[in-house]
Amino acid sequence: MKGDKKLMNILVVGSGGREHAIIWKLSQSDRVDKIYCAPGNAGISQLAECVDISATDIENLVSFAKNTNIDLTIVGMDDPLMLGIVDAFEEADLKIFGPSKNAAIIEGSKIFSKELMKKYNIPTADYEIFHDPELADNYLKQYNNYPVVIKADGLALGKGVLICNTYEEAYDAIKTIMIDKKFGDAGDKIVIEEFLQGPEVSVLSFCDGETIIPMVSAQDHKRALDGDQGLNTGGMGTFSPSKYYTDEIHKQCIETIFKPSLKAMKNEGRSFTGIMFFGLMLTEKGPKLLEYNARFGDPEAQVVLPRLKTDLVDIVEYAIDGKLNELEIIWDNKACVCVILASGGYPVKYEKGYEITGLNKQKEDDILIFHAGTKIVNDKVVTNGGRVLGLTAIGDDIVQAREKAYEALKYIDFYKKQYRTDIGIK
Ligand code: AMP
Ligand code: GLY
Repeated sequence: MKGDKKLMNILVVGSGGREHAIIWKLSQSDRVDKIYCAPGNAGISQLAECVDISATDIENLVSFAKNTNIDLTIVGMDDPLMLGIVDAFEEADLKIFGPSKNAAIIEGSKIFSKELMKKYNIPTADYEIFHDPELADNYLKQYNNYPVVIKADGLALGKGVLICNTYEEAYDAIKTIMIDKKFGDAGDKIVIEEFLQGPEVSVLSFCDGETIIPMVSAQDHKRALDGDQGLNTGGMGTFSPSKYYTDEIHKQCIETIFKPSLKAMKNEGRSFTGIMFFGLMLTEKGPKLLEYNARFGDPEAQVVLPRLKTDLVDIVEYAIDGKLNELEIIWDNKACVCVILASGGYPVKYEKGYEITGLNKQKEDDILIFHAGTKIVNDKVVTNGGRVLGLTAIGDDIVQAREKAYEALKYIDFYKKQYRTDIGIK
């Protein structure tokens, strides 16, 4: 018991490094009795009881939460949010943290989010929307400001954004998305938008519908290979804070992007409670919003949550109760760097099932190993996905955290281990 509060059973939905980081943070709370995770992974199973229910099997998650007396559910990943997990839990009188389906659309539809930004004067790249490939093609023939960015409207596993340097490339992109339907229905409609330049920064925030509290900044490395070469991935590494995200830019973002976004959602009858993630481009003309996500970033969570000093259970409860304005959230001044260890061949073709060695060699408090694609087979931890582990190091500054991270990952090995050697340099 903390004060007069009852200890809680908490369920976390998801199975990646982000969920491991969330659970690691929750496990430090003296308000928690037991943590469950559906479906979880090998690393998570050391802190939580993993339950074999898919993150998108909402019906069974509701039954599990009821039968197990879960006091609070936290959703890590996007798919269940878009499917309405929050609405289903609330209907069943279960406490859950995340946006309802009609608010999660800020991540689910790029067209929705661009129209929202335009309507509420939130700075973003100029754009046009097309439902018809022929009209899109006609538009591109006239376009004289290449490169241009073409985005499938719906969720496409982070692969639905194509940056095209010439008309020919842009035509191919339209064909891929709208005619060949590489991303299925997600490509029924597209956004064609202005190419922006500048450092890209992620800022996540806690929202309760009325109040928005931004977290410390982070930068992601989306490309598979050093020097931002290779294909786009879910993220090969992150660091926090970003040196580009100054106090002045922060103030500007609060006034022109963060607060207006939350207010806009409320105005639209889509009040947003949960984590609002802002993908920002810091251009010469000021910060512009590239996209929203409706959940913690992965691997942003792995560098932001270790810097959070306030109890995450308190924050989540205050957010659900609409009282975030009463809470002060405190951050550590230290820096974090997270390097992702991926399976060889990721993000295209890779094999799974290789034993991971050296996981127990690191005993330092400032090294955290967050599991992503791992599972236990015959008492051994083996690879079970594209992104396998995220190794986070905490240091006095980025340089020190980076050194510690790369030193620590020398001890961890698996067949065809792949990672970038330049995380935290940019
Ligand atoms: P998104 O899913 O919208 O975040 O896009 C994925 C990535 O594509 C972003 O993280 C950026 O690196 C890049 N991107 C998206 N929109 C633009 C843009 N308008 N200009 C330049 N790069 C962009
Ligand atoms: N790291 C970016 C994302 O979670 O979408």
